[in-house]
Amino acid sequence: MSQHQPLPKHEHATLKFPEGFLWGAATSAHQVEGNNTHSDWWQWEQDKPFDLRSGRACDQYNRFEQDFDLIKQLNHNAHRLSIEWSRIEPKEGEFNQTEIDHYKKVLKALKDRKITVMLTLWHWTLPVWVADKGGWENGATVSYFERFVRKIVPEISDYVDLWITLNEPGVYIYETYIERAWPHSKKSTWGQVKTFLNLTSAHKKVYKYLHSKFPAGKPVGIANNILSFESNHKHSFKEQLSVVLNDLFANHLFYFFTRGAHDFLGINYYFHIRFKDKYLTPNKKDLAQQTHDVSDLGWEIYPEGIFEVLTDLADDIPIYITECGIASTNDDRRNRFLISYLQEVARAIKAGVNVRGFFYWSLLDNFEWHLGFEPRFGLVEMDYSTMERHIRPSALVYTDIIQHNGIPHSLLRFIGHTVNAEEVLEKRQKEIRKEIESG
Ligand code: FCB
Repeated sequence: MSQHQPLPKHEHATLKFPEGFLWGAATSAHQVEGNNTHSDWWQWEQDKPFDLRSGRACDQYNRFEQDFDLIKQLNHNAHRLSIEWSRIEPKEGEFNQTEIDHYKKVLKALKDRKITVMLTLWHWTLPVWVADKGGWENGATVSYFERFVRKIVPEISDYVDLWITLNEPGVYIYETYIERAWPHSKKSTWGQVKTFLNLTSAHKKVYKYLHSKFPAGKPVGIANNILSFESNHKHSFKEQLSVVLNDLFANHLFYFFTRGAHDFLGINYYFHIRFKDKYLTPNKKDLAQQTHDVSDLGWEIYPEGIFEVLTDLADDIPIYITECGIASTNDDRRNRFLISYLQEVARAIKAGVNVRGFFYWSLLDNFEWHLGFEPRFGLVEMDYSTMERHIRPSALVYTDIIQHNGIPHSLLRFIGHTVNAEEVLEKRQKEIRKEIESG
């Protein structure tokens, strides 16, 4: 193209998302609420150093109205959150009505703000009494979970639009039996298999129940951690085999065992794993040592990966990105992360993948499990000493995208490293901050 020709029109256009796209952020109860004293995680944390204990977390239990005002201010139209089983059923068979009423208030507060609610029924924590009986290794936990679901769902269903039965069953198994970094960790292949099968069975039962309760709809799915795998050497048989086997186990097995029991695919995307010649399993140190750009947690920044997993998993049913985010104390990296990952999502949609929503992880900095409070994933920064919340500039980039229902050209330029792009971005962030402050 000669210098004098104007750019084709699409070069200036917003990269649009489909009508009705859900834009939001995700959290989980134990990570934000604080004082989940009846959960197995709480119990386990008590032997850890102070900064590895959830404690008051973000105190969202008491500050949910404030957080939901932020969501509204930032223009999100959807929110993903979870409820805490151990609060609702702290003792076997005894349901705490005060806690049930609390969750009703929480969910109603979202609805009052016209937010679409995606609710996770189990995000990794168990009531102590369930854990004491063997947790998910115990077949009876499937019925305990189902009893809990049958109790809570009729109470809150008016406020819920989409159900997630389980969060990342695969990661739960990996951290408990392979990394062994979590409560009840142990080496047990049989324990691993039992846990897997019980989780698949819990999902299927709850799926069936939710469908019998709402024959007319309210989609049900899981949030599954989907990884993008790659071999470092195209012609290494070992590495290629690792890719195939890991893809099968990590990405497909749960779906295979629960086929027919998903109304949508909920995808949590964080990882791009490169296999090195000598290893058949991913080795974190190797990954961090590579020259690739990584987050504060050493997780590779690889936007193309989200395009790859979306196109790989594309199915007849809709897809929601139920989590995707970066741990970084450098918010500029979060700006780039949001724009570049969402650009890849837009590309997948253009390629025909039916993506219906995106939930950034996370709304605010929070308790990152065994890693404590150090990783900073939030669109909103937490000052844990005062419990003050501060909107980060990247949250405004996200708002800009939401307001356009797409990525405006001014933002795309930013990742293209155009001269002055930073200035343009800052100017826009200032405008949005003014806009949201003036309501
Ligand atoms: C996901 C979890 C979520 C959070 C993010 C960083 O695997 O579902 O709770 O810890 O990772």
